[in-house]
Amino acid sequence: MYCLAIETSCDDTCVAIVKDGSVILSNVISNQLDFHRRFGGVVPEVASRKHLEYLIPILDQACQEAGIDVSQIDVVACTYGPGLAGSLLMGLCLAKTIAILFQKPFVAINHLEGHLFASRLDHPDLTPPFISLIISGGHTELIMVKDWGVYTSLGRTRDDAVGEVYDKIAKHLAIGYPGGPIIDLLSQNGNPNRFHFRGGLEDNKENFEFSFSGLKTAVIRTYNQFSLNEKKDDTLRNDLLASFQHSVYRTLWKKTFLAVKKTGYQGISLGGGVSANSYLRHQFSQQGEQHQLNIYFPSLTLCTDNAAMIASCGSFHFSRGELSPLDIEPHPQLRIV
Ligand code: KG4
Ligand code: ZN
Repeated sequence: MYCLAIETSCDDTCVAIVKDGSVILSNVISNQLDFHRRFGGVVPEVASRKHLEYLIPILDQACQEAGIDVSQIDVVACTYGPGLAGSLLMGLCLAKTIAILFQKPFVAINHLEGHLFASRLDHPDLTPPFISLIISGGHTELIMVKDWGVYTSLGRTRDDAVGEVYDKIAKHLAIGYPGGPIIDLLSQNGNPNRFHFRGGLEDNKENFEFSFSGLKTAVIRTYNQFSLNEKKDDTLRNDLLASFQHSVYRTLWKKTFLAVKKTGYQGISLGGGVSANSYLRHQFSQQGEQHQLNIYFPSLTLCTDNAAMIASCGSFHFSRGELSPLDIEPHPQLRIV
């Protein structure tokens, strides 16, 4: 069974073909970083125009790499939310066109559920129930995965998503875009214990909500207190970034561990761009060993946005006969439950 999937929820134009829900035949990702870099963030209007330009060539490339003609696919899947309305619309238009032209079944996918399936693609042994932590540029959410297709959101961020904070701090420090991978790298030479930042709500055991905008402000204010000469010192900058990352990790771990204790689940799966972070991966893995919990990370290409995870999720829904109507619209604020 061949599933062709399209993912255009933000600034990555992605098309993939996955066989039987788990074998990736092609997974093409075209990022638009060069166009958004000078703004230090994604410009929605630019993103949707670039999707329009890239989608057909990327579709061709995905088919070529998989050795499959569009007419041979069994189902077409596409992200319909959450995300940027204009960007979602571009992917949906193409997916619906393929469905109509080639008379194929169509499945609309929740982007967050897609991120859950990224771990499943890499870890066939990942079986519910488990806790999922989705951390990306747009989302920070803890989810109880009772079964595939059966989810309960435990809590999400009240303000900034964690990836957004990485990007905004990087913008303020003028170290490049997107901030996540750059901060990840620079922090490797920094001392995570030099500055003590607190993640918002990190010690609140009442619920699973996060708050990261206060942490962002604290990091930027600390940086601003230094003189121009001091700011040129790489050690200072790297220590500041490493300390910021440590605070992010500590907050995410505390809430995730709280969820594990409350549910009694033994597995934790991570997903979203920030789950590519090397410090976070190392710290979570160590905690997993210490507490005898199974920690699942997607491979680096499947952490950030991609269409293979959408195809895997689409195959799952297709196999259960869960098809979507062709008049479905983009749903920018879509939730997992
Ligand atoms: O999942 P994703 O590609 O898009 C959304 O759904 O938002 O995540 C993008 C986010 C960006 O904020 C980027 O800075 C962050 O993931 N990111 C990272 C790393 N790689 C990407 N954050 C921390 N460490 C990384 N290595
Ligand atoms: Zn995402």
